[in-house]
Amino acid sequence: GKTATGTAHGKLILAGEHSVVYGKPAIALPFHLVQVEANVIRKSGPLSIDCLYYTGAMDEAPPKMMGITACAKETLKTLNEPAENLVIKLESTVPIGRGLGSSAAVAVAVVRGLYAFFGRKLSEAELERLVQIAENFAHGNPSGIDMMTVINDHPIWFEKGKPVRPMPVSLRFYLVVADSGRIHDTSLAVKSIREKRQYEPEMVNKAIGRLGKIVYEVKEALDAKDGFRLGQLLNEAQAQLSALGVSDAGLDDLTGAARAAGALGAKLTGAGRGGCIIALAETREKAETVAAALQRAGAIKTWYFSLEGR
Ligand code: PMV
Repeated sequence: GKTATGTAHGKLILAGEHSVVYGKPAIALPFHLVQVEANVIRKSGPLSIDCLYYTGAMDEAPPKMMGITACAKETLKTLNEPAENLVIKLESTVPIGRGLGSSAAVAVAVVRGLYAFFGRKLSEAELERLVQIAENFAHGNPSGIDMMTVINDHPIWFEKGKPVRPMPVSLRFYLVVADSGRIHDTSLAVKSIREKRQYEPEMVNKAIGRLGKIVYEVKEALDAKDGFRLGQLLNEAQAQLSALGVSDAGLDDLTGAARAAGALGAKLTGAGRGGCIIALAETREKAETVAAALQRAGAIKTWYFSLEGR
């Protein structure tokens, strides 16, 4: 029978997580080494989904899947097609709850897959509206940075409520990504900072201000192709995120192991308290050494890629 496929890549926040919630800018990159694929297949019966966690009618899916169900149904409604006689098969290499944008990537792949199945053209505005439906149900994504990074194929400069800007990145350095293997809770981490801000407003506002400023300095370092400066800034961001309480012993171990193995800088990426870290390495060989050290320090998975021509 007829089938169609929609795909989406993961995302990485280079700098600006958490401070982005308070209106500061952030820089995020598409993470092409992890992907979601949604295969849409014609099959009689209720609208169904087939993935690692659940197989069956979307209407009876577990609460965790309410967002993607609402998103798929609204997509079909927009396409003027009945929500039946379709199966959406999901395949993903984006680990869940690690700050790599899995929920946004699933929604983007599903919307793209359904539009492809019915041979219809999907505008970016429509994709954003439909994916937002899923994101509203998911872990609570106050800024919207995940969705915008997953939709775009290039690095972005992101500010809450403003149009995204492409952020050219071309640096002959490597970014190493390591997964702690621990699932984090984005909304809890965001809430913890909001609460801390009530008790220690000066300290928290200062850290948020510094994190925002670091993002402008990261842009300057990228524009100047100064990887050494970028490394320092990643370390500084990690120190501020740590002061805000969103790092933890496991992430400190990983960033420390990366630096000890020769990384120019390392920080958590995403909400923190679990999830992933990123580290900057000067060459492919150094990236390999850093990745191996991160595995020895307990990372369950590592990736690395060049920042050249992105
Ligand atoms: O989904 P995560 O873990 O990458 O977190 C998103 C980044 C935060 O700034 C922590 C939250 C947000 O909505 O911007």
